[in-house]
Amino acid sequence: MTLNRRDFVASVGWSFLASAAARADAPKPAAAAGAENFSDWSEVRAQFDLSPEWLHFSQFYIVSHPRPVRAAIERYRRMLDANPFATVEHGMGFAAFLGQQSQDVAFPVRVQQAAAQYLGGRPDEVALTDSTTTGLALIYNGLTFTPGDEILTTTHDHYVHHEAIRLAAERNGASWRRIALYDAPEAAAAEQMVERLRGAIGARTRVVGLTWVHSGTGVKLPMRALTQAVAEANRNRGEHERVLVVLDAVHGFGNQDMPLAGLGVDFAAAGTHKWIFAPRGTGIIWAPEKNWALLRPTIPSFYSSEPFAAWEDGHPPQTPTRAAWVSPGGFKAYEHQWAMAEAFEFHRRIGRARIAARIAALNTQCKDALAAIPRVKVLTPRDAALSAGIICFEVQGRTPEETVQRLLERKVIASTSPYKVTHARLAPSLVNDERQVEAAVRAVREIA
Ligand SMILES: Cc1ncc(COP(=O)(O)O)c(C=O)c1O
Repeated sequence: MTLNRRDFVASVGWSFLASAAARADAPKPAAAAGAENFSDWSEVRAQFDLSPEWLHFSQFYIVSHPRPVRAAIERYRRMLDANPFATVEHGMGFAAFLGQQSQDVAFPVRVQQAAAQYLGGRPDEVALTDSTTTGLALIYNGLTFTPGDEILTTTHDHYVHHEAIRLAAERNGASWRRIALYDAPEAAAAEQMVERLRGAIGARTRVVGLTWVHSGTGVKLPMRALTQAVAEANRNRGEHERVLVVLDAVHGFGNQDMPLAGLGVDFAAAGTHKWIFAPRGTGIIWAPEKNWALLRPTIPSFYSSEPFAAWEDGHPPQTPTRAAWVSPGGFKAYEHQWAMAEAFEFHRRIGRARIAARIAALNTQCKDALAAIPRVKVLTPRDAALSAGIICFEVQGRTPEETVQRLLERKVIASTSPYKVTHARLAPSLVNDERQVEAAVRAVREIA
């Protein structure tokens, strides 16, 4: 007799699997994990294992895991190594899908809950992805376009955003167009950006693709004003002609006090392995509940029983798409995905408003000091309303690569922006303090 998967779990017995998982050091709730006093910024910095030889001003690129996240990854890893089958079957809620007795909440649901609390939405509005790149591809590929539809985007977005648009547009016979919201980043102005977007929306525009904080210039978009302009353009349009706003949120998500769900966008994708400090290889998509029905999933999901049950019964799922159906399936580096919850908890314990204020203060200190150096030009707006955690600058007479190389020789980790027009970047963040900012600026002064 061959056993199918449902019979197999039933025959082995859930209690056996559950106890096997329980023996392997189940994760403890994050709130009870540490008695650190995060009111002290040095205590926050001490959570990171960054090499002290270097001044790390590129933490926004890829994260160093803070201690609570490292500890959670380690706990999940031990569970998985002790009993991979039981841990995945139990932790992913597969046993519950199969009608077996379940533990309390599946680990991905805990992640959705933590993410939703942080971003101001609901757990069932959050899909789990691997990165911003994956999220954007799932959104653009999942939307329905017809020949003649237009995707309007800007010249300021990252390669992965433009590629996600290009691939989706080519497949569907849609067109796409880029506009500049500003010319010189240092002179970017909110009203001008709104007017340019408003003027560019055409009769066939179906999507506006934006990026919250541009990693090529450091400009932060006035998101509320921009989404308001799109809402006005939608006022006399029918549901099928509505212009949707898709946001690459990655460089605002984790350094702003504005909840993502309050920006007025229709879909937002963000890697959580940058400013959120979640494990490398993690990200989310957030969309208000009503919008999920607009997406066709691209990758079979393991995060909901409905598509699986429909497949077993030999028909497509009957209800509209839900967020969990868009979380790509296939087995994952689960210790990383499940430990995402601890990163949101880390932010909650420090405080979103405090984090935003701290990053703004360090960035203002850095920009003001850089701007005071002769032969250095700060390209990112000085105004915190139009900038976030990334500072682009140029040193007269030096290429960005030279500047970054010379900073490296002085133990400062800066970066160049990966765009056709490239700039040197410093990104003061929670891993830095005022003295480190002074030291980085001193190094730039020496080079200039
Ligand atoms: C604006 C922007 N979007 C997307 C990405 C890609 O992010 P991910 O690694 O999460 O796919 C980057 C890269 O750092 C970026 O700067």
